[in-house]
Amino acid sequence: MSINYSEKIPNNVNLAEDRALQRALEHWQPGFLNWWRDVGPEGAQVFDVYLRTATSVEPEGWAQFDYVKMPDYRWGIFLNPPQPDRTIPFGEHKGEPVWQEVPGEHRANLRRIIVTQGDTEPASVEQQRHLGLTAPSMYDLRNLFQVNVEEGRHLWAMVYLLHKYFGRDGREEAEGLLERRSGDADNPRILGAFNEKTPDWLAFFMFTYFTDRDGKFQLLALSESGFDPLARTTQFMLTEEGHHMFVGRSGISRIVHRTAQVMRENNAEDPAAVRALGVIDLETIQRYINFHFSVTVDLFGADQSSNAATFFSSGLKGRFQETALADDHVLKGDSYRLTAVEDGALVEREAGALNTLNERLRDDFIADSMNGIARWNRQIELEGIPFRLRLPHKGFNRRIGGFAGAHISPDGRVIGAEEWQAGLKHWLPTMDDRAFVASLMGRVVTPGLFANWIAPPPVGINGNPVDFEYVRFN
Ligand SMILES: [Fe+2]
Ligand SMILES: [Fe+2]
Repeated sequence: MSINYSEKIPNNVNLAEDRALQRALEHWQPGFLNWWRDVGPEGAQVFDVYLRTATSVEPEGWAQFDYVKMPDYRWGIFLNPPQPDRTIPFGEHKGEPVWQEVPGEHRANLRRIIVTQGDTEPASVEQQRHLGLTAPSMYDLRNLFQVNVEEGRHLWAMVYLLHKYFGRDGREEAEGLLERRSGDADNPRILGAFNEKTPDWLAFFMFTYFTDRDGKFQLLALSESGFDPLARTTQFMLTEEGHHMFVGRSGISRIVHRTAQVMRENNAEDPAAVRALGVIDLETIQRYINFHFSVTVDLFGADQSSNAATFFSSGLKGRFQETALADDHVLKGDSYRLTAVEDGALVEREAGALNTLNERLRDDFIADSMNGIARWNRQIELEGIPFRLRLPHKGFNRRIGGFAGAHISPDGRVIGAEEWQAGLKHWLPTMDDRAFVASLMGRVVTPGLFANWIAPPPVGINGNPVDFEYVRFN
């Protein structure tokens, strides 16, 4: 399964043996590079960046670190090795051999799943394209670029599946992935959160913490798929995704650490006093959490969804840790507990397990999201500050599903329109919050120096010191 880097498109799928596919992908490649130049990291095309590149998909030493100009990054096609005799782990085809080709009756759904996942990858690169201009350190700048090139590779992963398994309409979808643009009024990206702006580094870290974690859960569900090429490609994407969430978790941790430290040293508590010291007040950080969490939980879709049931029953998309779950993996007649709004109150009720698979994945995501909050609160506690960050209620600020249209406060109360309007400025980032955070953003790129509002990381990348020259500007 070693990767062939001598080819134009690095791969471990014997691409050279399938000339038609190779030609089709080599035809798509210049469009991808044009897209990268047009809407990839701004002004950064000639930088030498200390990046990791996959050398093999084996767990030991899959990555090699070296200086690379991003347009020369070896984007390619890497699938985990097949598991011999793997069977479909769930749904109505449970126990049958996994599919190596697309089953005709599930073709449209499978294509839709792959396109929807594929669309998020270039979208996040577009959302983050200006951030390099205001990096708080060279270390952070390098991490941003690493995330960007890997999202580019995730696009390659989905485009490979479209080209190889879906013929002409797959190729058309692959073109569409380069044509839509995040936030574009006429041709936006498919999912809401991927059309939001990521204007500053607090938003970037929140995005990588919450929205890349949605990616992790979607990929985990797809890594169980009965369509084996999808399972194998998402398994490898997950190993890259881990770094993205590390960037988010540690980035917010370093911001919280710095704020709490400055608050203690100066005995400052009032947000205005904290801001005057040049760090981000905890209240603003909480409002960013509320925003990014709520737009991200919407990505899981409606809480009751017949599509979700179909994707599962037909063996296309499993649950979080499907194979480890102790049930029949078919779920007919099973139920799942939902929170709903009824007569102005939140109630718990049972609903069919198949129809509520989106909600179940959302709940798994929320449980996973708690870990970072606990770590950040320890930073605050260590400085002896009573403030605690928290996740808002999952019904807060929702646009999709049963909570859409209801007003739910972050602490989980159903409230009226007036209280909602009055509360918004305390719950979601205001123009003033965003302007303040923007005012802190300035380019700090001398090796070893960090912007005032963020603490340095405890260690560097790949065993290098924190003040290593991670980017050479040329
Ligand atoms: Fe990704
Ligand atoms: Fe990611």
